[in-house]
Amino acid sequence: MFTAVEMAPRDPILGLNEQFAADTNPNKVNLGVGVYYDDNGKLPLLQCVQAAEQNMMKAPTARGYLPIDGIVAYDNAVKALVFGADSEPVQSGRVATIQAIGGTGGLKVGADFLKKLNPQAKVLISDPSWENHRALFTNAGFEVESYPYYDAAKRGINFDGMLAALNAAPAGTVVVLHACCHNPTGYDITPEQWDQVVATVKAKGLVPFLDMAYQGFGYGLKEDGAAVAKFVDAGLTFFVSTSFSKSFSLYGERVGALSVLCENKEEAGRVLSQLKIAIRTNYSNPPIHGGAVVAAVLGNPELRALWEKELGEMRVRIKAMRQKLVDGLKAAGVKEDMSFITTQIGMFSYSGLSKDQMVRLRNEFGVYGTDTGRMCVAALNSKNIDYVCASIAKVI
Ligand code: LMR
Repeated sequence: MFTAVEMAPRDPILGLNEQFAADTNPNKVNLGVGVYYDDNGKLPLLQCVQAAEQNMMKAPTARGYLPIDGIVAYDNAVKALVFGADSEPVQSGRVATIQAIGGTGGLKVGADFLKKLNPQAKVLISDPSWENHRALFTNAGFEVESYPYYDAAKRGINFDGMLAALNAAPAGTVVVLHACCHNPTGYDITPEQWDQVVATVKAKGLVPFLDMAYQGFGYGLKEDGAAVAKFVDAGLTFFVSTSFSKSFSLYGERVGALSVLCENKEEAGRVLSQLKIAIRTNYSNPPIHGGAVVAAVLGNPELRALWEKELGEMRVRIKAMRQKLVDGLKAAGVKEDMSFITTQIGMFSYSGLSKDQMVRLRNEFGVYGTDTGRMCVAALNSKNIDYVCASIAKVI
């Protein structure tokens, strides 16, 4: 039965983890996947998470099925975080939110719903984009094309190209936009450029799908959510997928969400009913633990304050590592000006290194980044930075 089955290629991001685990180089450093490690190279278990779990263990609960759309308190906490607790969309009840299996799950539920709603629509993703965007929307049945984004020569964004592509897209085209901390490049458009994107999306009748997996890793929770507020202010209806994998360091709990802003409460009820069909036919209903932890933290003022403090510490440490990377590369003899690394934001740096250079980094030095030249600066620390800089200097 399986004789004709071909071997699929390794996943360009998660496949690196497999290769890294098998690597015997004692100096190996994993800058492949987007995961934050502390200065000791350890995956943090946030104190707010530990406190919430301890409280939960004082009164352990049985594990029945969750509702298809997840824990009500979790969904409400997501709405408050994404739109603002007192915002008009939340107050008027016109946001349909579902607990999803990670941000990826939120994207997939949204993609399945959109495919049923508008089967002829095309999807536009940024060039480049998170490696899984294209595969995910393609597997949901869409034709996926891209809009210009990264400008290698300028080490920045080809904003004119991006806007021209959006202007040329037919009405109904789904446009996937990174709300903050663009993955993989680390370059975000400015607030003024967002205004132009929002105006174009509105004028052309495009369908915005915001992917916000890194809220809190750029400038702060509110600042990073500013693009969402701009779409709301423009009176648009749209999709937002969110994730607590990074911001709560709960990667393996798969805690994400999809929110769909609708015209009114009645419409949100109908949309929610369709999202529930997509969930039920994919995985029935979400798991409990991660969502319960996040809801407990966000619903408790003290734990929420602790979370914001811990998230802030992660953000600040990443920024410090960017500067150390720039300084370290210079000290290691790299002549090229690498200061662009500090103008990037979020977990990633698009280094500008070629595939050959990235493969050499991996094979000769055990330094893992994606073939596209993306490195996760959130995995750098005071112990591995010199080795990483020396290795990069040798391949440049
Ligand atoms: C990444 O881009 O490395 C993360 O979003 C993890 C993933 O699922 O790819």
